[in-house]
Amino acid sequence: MLQTFSTQKWDETFSSSTQQQAICNLERGQILYFPQLAFALSPEERNLLSPIYADPHSKNISYQPDNNKLWGVQHLSDEQHLQLKLMLDRFCNQALDFIHALFPQYAQYLVLGRTSFRPVQISKRQTSYRKDDRRLHVDAFPSAPNQGKRILRVFCNINPHGEDRVWRIGEPFEQVAHRFIPNIHKPFPGSAVCLRFLKITKSYRTLYDHYMLCLHNQMKADESYQKKAQQCEVRFPAGSTWIVQTDQVSHAAMEGQYTVEQTVHLPPHAMQDESRSPLRILEKILKQPLV
Ligand code: SIN
Ligand code: FE
Repeated sequence: MLQTFSTQKWDETFSSSTQQQAICNLERGQILYFPQLAFALSPEERNLLSPIYADPHSKNISYQPDNNKLWGVQHLSDEQHLQLKLMLDRFCNQALDFIHALFPQYAQYLVLGRTSFRPVQISKRQTSYRKDDRRLHVDAFPSAPNQGKRILRVFCNINPHGEDRVWRIGEPFEQVAHRFIPNIHKPFPGSAVCLRFLKITKSYRTLYDHYMLCLHNQMKADESYQKKAQQCEVRFPAGSTWIVQTDQVSHAAMEGQYTVEQTVHLPPHAMQDESRSPLRILEKILKQPLV
């Protein structure tokens, strides 16, 4: 389930055998775990560790590195606003360099996504079941279709009180898909065009996005599945980092406060073994192209 590394610095160089093992384990749905790789904060940045700066209407504080935009925040002075941006920008650059060093084959295909800061205690958050990440799910987002691209995420627990981030990890993607996909209906004809026209989706919701979103929703809605599905608890201590493909790995975040996370996307053709991508697995089950 976890491949553990002894890495202690963000500008580490990796041997080709370590790179090979990492890519292979990542694509098989393992979590790459770096217990001694911490994201260091300055004393001023540590003052930003408070849930009061998170807009209660947003799930996380988000930073868009390509246009330097921060949102989901409140009550920050101009100076703090800038400090938080710089902190997330630094995390973004470190995480990206690290991914390039660990997965050089992916480098030229990676598409940079958002950076997030998650200062709210997960166990206390009140949300609808679809937004409740304490339920096992694979990641898929209603307004942001990714059209088959992978979701690769780097997480760092920056909790200043030494508190773990606690996840549950569920069964392999093939099992999840075989269990839920046969009961998922096709989308209504024309619905993807309407969603795009009404600007509900940021790009065209492909059949892949439809099935992934339904999979996400049905997993979360199924109380009995949540309790009885094969699963185990994993604790990520403060000061640790982990890399995971959250479109493939069934996960639930149960407890924890203060994490930074960087998302990158990868087209399945850039993988070493494309047949392990959710896109190809769903296409095999449904016997049709989905993008
Ligand atoms: C999630 O992707 O479900 C949330 C992960 C986390 O914030 O720890
Ligand atoms: Fe998730």
